[in-house]
Amino acid sequence: MKHPLDRSWLYRAWQAPFVAQKLAPMRRRHPGLPFRRVLDVGCGPGINAPVFRHAEYLGVDLEEGYIRAARARHGNYFVVGDAGNLDLPGDHRFDCILVNSLLHHLDNDQVGRLLTSARRLLAAGGTLFVIDLYVPDSGLPRRLALADRGRFPRALPQLRRLISSACTIDCEELFRLHLGPLTLWKMVYFEARLGDVPCA
Ligand SMILES: C[S@@+](CC[C@H](N)C(=O)[O-])C[C@H]1O[C@@H](n2cnc3c(N)ncnc32)[C@H](O)[C@@H]1O
Repeated sequence: MKHPLDRSWLYRAWQAPFVAQKLAPMRRRHPGLPFRRVLDVGCGPGINAPVFRHAEYLGVDLEEGYIRAARARHGNYFVVGDAGNLDLPGDHRFDCILVNSLLHHLDNDQVGRLLTSARRLLAAGGTLFVIDLYVPDSGLPRRLALADRGRFPRALPQLRRLISSACTIDCEELFRLHLGPLTLWKMVYFEARLGDVPCA
């Protein structure tokens, strides 16, 4: 454990006001989240798992403590794994791969490897959902993004370029995470397909 937020109870408490806000674009565009098999990469302590109760769900995270906490809370649907080297047991294919607030923890090579794995793991017609903060030009959201424990926060054009180098982006939506009237983070939501652009 290297950072206070690596404690799963603290991470859950810190994120509580924002879980629903982060998933709002996805829920609005896909009412009822009608996915059958969901892979949640960088799942943390299972914070997004409850909204996929109706689906076959698998969460993956690098942090063993998070995975232990997620299993204790939600059941045995979580494995320790590295997003930059995804090696899942069995022959899994998912119609939804969710990458929520992970990319700013990964360098460009790791993101590239994740997108290559996603190509292998996505079922035909499936969708990759990426939700992440970006570094705006100024203000509190910029300072918070740059102060994040994730060491690779990116400006929006960089993030977009990185994803579109390996996928076709079907949808991009900007939104904010706020506490009352105060905007804390500027966020982007992408939906992408992995079929059309050859991975580098
Ligand atoms: C900001 S948290 C996001 C957690 C959760 N997805 C959410 O929406 O709140 C980032 C997560 O990415 C995980 N992580 C960082 N690097 C990773 C890697 N290489 N492979 C898998 N998970 C990683 C961290 O342990 C942490 O749980």
